[in-house]
This record gives sequence, C-alpha cells and structure tokens, in this order.
Amino acid sequence: MNRYFVIGNPIGHSLSPQIHNYWFKKYKLKTSNYEKRKLEEKELEKFVREIRDKSQSINGVNVTVPYKKKIIPFLDELSNTSLPTQSVNTIFKKDGKLVGHNTDTTAFEETLKQFFLDYKERHILLIGAGGVAPSVLFALCRLVGRYGKIYLMNRSKSKAIDLKKMGNTFNTFEPSNIELLDWGKVPDVHLVINTTSIGLTNEENLGLDFTKYEKLKEKTLFYDLIYNPKETNFIIDAKKRGNKIMNGKMMFLLQAKYAFQKWTGIDAELDDEIIKIVD
Ligand SMILES: NC(=O)c1ccc[n+]([C@@H]2O[C@H](COP(=O)([O-])OP(=O)(O)OC[C@H]3O[C@@H](n4cnc5c(N)ncnc54)[C@H](OP(=O)(O)O)[C@@H]3O)[C@@H](O)[C@H]2O)c1
Repeated sequence: MNRYFVIGNPIGHSLSPQIHNYWFKKYKLKTSNYEKRKLEEKELEKFVREIRDKSQSINGVNVTVPYKKKIIPFLDELSNTSLPTQSVNTIFKKDGKLVGHNTDTTAFEETLKQFFLDYKERHILLIGAGGVAPSVLFALCRLVGRYGKIYLMNRSKSKAIDLKKMGNTFNTFEPSNIELLDWGKVPDVHLVINTTSIGLTNEENLGLDFTKYEKLKEKTLFYDLIYNPKETNFIIDAKKRGNKIMNGKMMFLLQAKYAFQKWTGIDAELDDEIIKIVD
C-alpha cells in the first residue's frame, strides 16, 4: 500500500483526495490511496514521525492552511521553490529524507505565461500578504523581469512590508522593482491579483475602486486565486467592466498535477473528469 495525505485545519472542504484518487485509478496505481487528515498544530511533529515510519507506508503529503510554513522545522530539506518562499505544500521522500516542496508557485507561474506575451513592460498589483502571497510573488518576480513593476497592497501594511522584504531576496534588481502602496491606492497595471480570502462568500467585497479599468477593457487581467465560488465579486465586477478574468481553478489543478508528478513520475492529464471535480 502507498498512502498519501493532505493535512490542514480545517480540511473538510479539500478536493485533493478526489483528484489524486481519480488519477491513481486512471493510471492503474491500484495500491495507492489519498486521504485528508485534520491536525491540530501540536500534532504536526507526531504526524511527521508517522511519515518517516516505514511501516506506515506514507509516500507523499500535501500541506494546506495553516501549516505551509509551520511544517518546515520538522523536515530535512527544502526545494528551490519552498526555501525562498518558506512555504511547503508538498512533501516527498528522497534518499530517506523528507523534502518540502512548493508546487503553488510553479502552478501560478504556468497559468500566466501566455498572458504576458504582448507586453514588454509588465506592471502588476498584488493584493494580500497572507500565506499564499510569497508563492505568487516568487513567480511574479520571475515573470516580470527588469522592466516590470510589482505593487503590493495589504489591509495590514506591516505584513506587506515583510512580503516586500522577502520579495527583494527573490531578485537582485537595484532599485527594487517591488513597491508598497497604501490600501485603496489603485495603480495602472496590466494584471490585478487578489490573493486575499475576501470573496469566499458572495457578500464579501474588497471595497477597492477599480472604475479606472473601465477604459482599459481586456488590456487588464483580473485574477482571483479563489476558485470556489467560481465568480467572486472581484471577478463579477471585472467582467462587467469588460476586463479579462481568471479564477484560481487552473492554479489549483496544476499544483495537484505537479505534486502527483513528484510522487509518481506520471504527467497526469487535466481531463474533463478532473475539471468536473473542481466545478
Ligand atoms: N487557487 C489556488 O490554488 C490557491 C492556493 C492557495 C490559496 N488560495 C486562495 O487564496 C486565498 C488566500 O489564502 P492564504 O493562505 O494566503 O490566506 P491567509 O494567510 O489567511 O491570508 C488572508 C489574506 O486576506 C486578507 N484579508 C482577510 N480579510 C480581509 C478583509 N476584510 N479586507 C482586506 N483583506 C483581508 C489578509 O489581510 P491581513 O494581513 O490584513 O489580515 C491576508 O492578506 C484563499 O482564499 C485561498 O482559497 C488559492
């Protein structure tokens, strides 16, 4: 038996077991099984001992909110995506060691590659500075290059300051192309990303004024990392203005695909069945 888990708290809403168990069946990995496990913070260390214990046959683990950073002290190594972002969403075994890896950042980057083809200078507004924000910023630093600009805005400015400090370690441009903005100051950009949790319920609204984007129409992409609901107010309003839109569905599916690839070596297909699970 090869066992896989997603750990977090809360965990009831997680679609990861359905996705990975579908792939295990599709690719005929009959002895593999994926479950969710809700953990309290004080249980993290014991769970990592369980992963190390060969008799438990645990081959891989996904980590979700609120443990992506808290799990790090219990692991042996961090990959080149989890070390800079200090965020682990995937654990795999290598030569008897437990390696923390981050597939959120590569998944996010992949969803944006096509969008920027038309732009020489790439200007971006990143809203939010919570757990997923370093992964998004890491990918953006790779995408924008020297001539782009990344604006950061968060309700609590101190967290945006910390995020900027981290961002300045991702690239070495002088002066830094990452700039802090006060909450409410909306700049002219090609891409606006909502990484806050505002929008998980339909009554919630960021309360930011994006009316200037009525003129820019589809020149600007409004990207919400939330995928359930499919359309948050952030997306609904952008659609009304005629802007381009994207939700977090493809990022979510790709982070799962890259984790599956790490564990099994299989390049899983994002087929209609998988899309239906998330819809
Ligand atoms: N598509 C994907 O694969 C994917 C992956 C990861 C996460 N996500 C989504 O990304 C979102 C954020 O996740 P996370 O782990 O970063 O969450 P988190 O660590 O809890 O961070 C929440 C963020 O939302 C902000 N926020 C909360 N309430 C607010 C309010 N009333 N007004 C303004 N800002 C507010 C927080 O600002 P403060 O700092 O001021 O509190 C913080 O920046 C979640 O909705 C999650 O579903 C999607």
